[in-house]
Amino acid sequence: MSYKIPYGKQYISESDTQAVIEALHSDFLTQGPRISEFEKNFAAYIGCKYAIAVSNGTAALHLPFLAIGLKEGDRIITTPITFAASANAARYCGAEVYFADIDPETYVISIDSVKALLEKHPKGYFKAIVPVDFTGYPVNLEALRTLADAHDLFILEDACHSPGGYFIDSKGIRQNCGNGHYAHAAAFSFHPVKHIAAGEGGMITTNDEALYKKMMVLRTHGITKENLVMDFPEAELQGAWYYEMQHLGFNYRITDIQAALANSQLQRADEGIKKRHEIAGYYDEKFNVPGIKKQNNGKVFNAFHLYVIEVADRKGLYEHLKSAGIFAQIHYVPVHLMPYYRQFGWKEGDFPNAENYYKHCISLPMYPTLSREEQDYVIAKVLEFVSK
Ligand SMILES: Cc1ncc(COP(=O)(O)O)c(C=O)c1O
Repeated sequence: MSYKIPYGKQYISESDTQAVIEALHSDFLTQGPRISEFEKNFAAYIGCKYAIAVSNGTAALHLPFLAIGLKEGDRIITTPITFAASANAARYCGAEVYFADIDPETYVISIDSVKALLEKHPKGYFKAIVPVDFTGYPVNLEALRTLADAHDLFILEDACHSPGGYFIDSKGIRQNCGNGHYAHAAAFSFHPVKHIAAGEGGMITTNDEALYKKMMVLRTHGITKENLVMDFPEAELQGAWYYEMQHLGFNYRITDIQAALANSQLQRADEGIKKRHEIAGYYDEKFNVPGIKKQNNGKVFNAFHLYVIEVADRKGLYEHLKSAGIFAQIHYVPVHLMPYYRQFGWKEGDFPNAENYYKHCISLPMYPTLSREEQDYVIAKVLEFVSK
């Protein structure tokens, strides 16, 4: 039997298809009721007050920064081991991006390296931080919030990998990724390889009402019919059509077609997380061998968007798997080493843990429809290579 196994894959059920067909036959392809329904359900799933659906995860990172007025001359901090969008969102506002190294065991931003970076500069030097729940591993936002408060930082959690993940805080309370308890806002992506697929799509979550209202306006060009600022002498001549563009916003709307698909997928989110945990548990059990380093998941509940291992000869393993029909992936080429970011002076050697991780990491197939037979095949091919 020949295999073709990707590292990630969407799962579209019959009910997903039906939901999209219903949206197509409805009165609204966009700006309709399926968007607010999805927002309401997503907020309930995550456990936050407000959710704003947007066109993709990148828009979900950009809008909160626009809303807080991030601008040229400001500085933010993020991790080098993330998708470029976590850093780019700040660049769209003209802000400078700094990085803090990762923890070599969990692969997420190291709170100690953030602390060291903050302490080198006066309070107010940095405006915001973007911790990324990389692979689905929840960053300890409780510890980060303490630091952030001491340095006046806005926390924008990049939760694109982590819907369904959580950690238990020092008070014994479960904190779902993106619930806005410690972070000021969070961003999610509904790209097909993620937990919930919309084709393209994203969501911002927050508990801050003022921030929510501002982002709602900015999602649609900065146009509103509320809190009008113009005081027309001939106000009574204005009609129900009247609107104002009060800020420079964007068209970051999602469509009802995408919201229908994502909302239908959301109904199976818990099922998907359960399956991802079974797959991760089985990999963990089989990879208790010399030559393989696993992510240390400690006491957190990882949402397992990705399952990553580290090996000595990563390129060799990647090629070995590819020749066997297994399409692993590398997450990520460190952002500070991208030619675009190198122009700001970042270079090899700046973040040793991130760079060392990048030399050895490989993401193995991880998605709810991966069968046990396929997983056994992947495991056999990995073990065959590392035991050589
Ligand atoms: C960590 C992270 N942040 C941001 C994004 C951007 O999301 P999108 O592709 O929906 O714009 C992604 C998606 O690839 C991601 O993995």
